[in-house]
Amino acid sequence: MGTATALGFLGLFLLARPKTTEPIRFCHWECMKFVQMWPGSFCVALAQRFECGVSESADSWTIHGLWPNDVMNCCSCWHLFPSDLLDLPSELTQHWPSFINISNFDFWEKEWHKHGTCAACTEALSSPSKYFGAALQLRTIYNIDKAFQRAAITPSCNHSYQLSTLHAAVRPILGERHDLQCVTDSQGRQVLVQVKVSLFSNFSSGCAATSTKDLSPYRPCESQQRVFYFPPNQQHPRDPCP
Ligand SMILES: *[C@@H]1O[C@H](CO)[C@@H](O)[C@H](O)[C@H]1NC(C)=O
Ligand SMILES: *[C@@H]1O[C@H](CO)[C@@H](O)[C@H](O)[C@H]1NC(C)=O
Ligand SMILES: *[C@@H]1O[C@H](CO)[C@@H](O)[C@H](O)[C@H]1NC(C)=O
Repeated sequence: MGTATALGFLGLFLLARPKTTEPIRFCHWECMKFVQMWPGSFCVALAQRFECGVSESADSWTIHGLWPNDVMNCCSCWHLFPSDLLDLPSELTQHWPSFINISNFDFWEKEWHKHGTCAACTEALSSPSKYFGAALQLRTIYNIDKAFQRAAITPSCNHSYQLSTLHAAVRPILGERHDLQCVTDSQGRQVLVQVKVSLFSNFSSGCAATSTKDLSPYRPCESQQRVFYFPPNQQHPRDPCP
């Protein structure tokens, strides 16, 4: 009888347990990452299974995404339609372009499904137009082009920087809680590719992420090696500085 009772409890426990614990956690994120990428090196370490190209107009940092921490794909039924973006597409095309062989809209749709539907838990991001509009605004606040210009850090094939110089340049704008990410090119050079800043849901920087789970192929830039900041090369995007 003891066993039967125990099994009964076990059965109830199993039935009562949600199939996945994810939905409960969807809206519990505290920090999000605003992620910007550099067209000059985006293609450098990209898998060959993608076609990769940067347009003439891609000469400034572009948006990769706005990602609430530790949650993804929160609502598969919330589809993105072009009309959701109102008057944003020209700005999005300029500042949030796709560099691989998916259309810009497909890129935005992927980002919306994966991250936007989770961001939508907070009122300021509770619709596609708010989410994409906020990202465009964040780009002007956390402006890496401006930070680098002020510090006289310019794209070059033949000049590299100390990692500490790059951190010092972005710190006044991004604060302490930012990540500089790098790839290694075919000649073993460390190349800056992506910058992340950790934000509270009110868009202030400085949110201390509890987890650092990161699925991207990029790694933190290392201070032992100098860092290159390659100029975009439309002809040879995978090998901009041969
Ligand atoms: C992108 O290009 C690669 C290489 O040509 C191809 O294998 C892949 O199917 C393409 N993907 C899309 C979504 O078109
Ligand atoms: C360094 O590279 C830039 C392009 O990034 C080029 O314009 C310049 O002439 C190069 N300087 C030297 C000394 O090679
Ligand atoms: C944003 O939220 C954080 C955490 O709740 C808070 O410490 C900070 O003061 C807020 N910033 C603004 C500008 O309201």
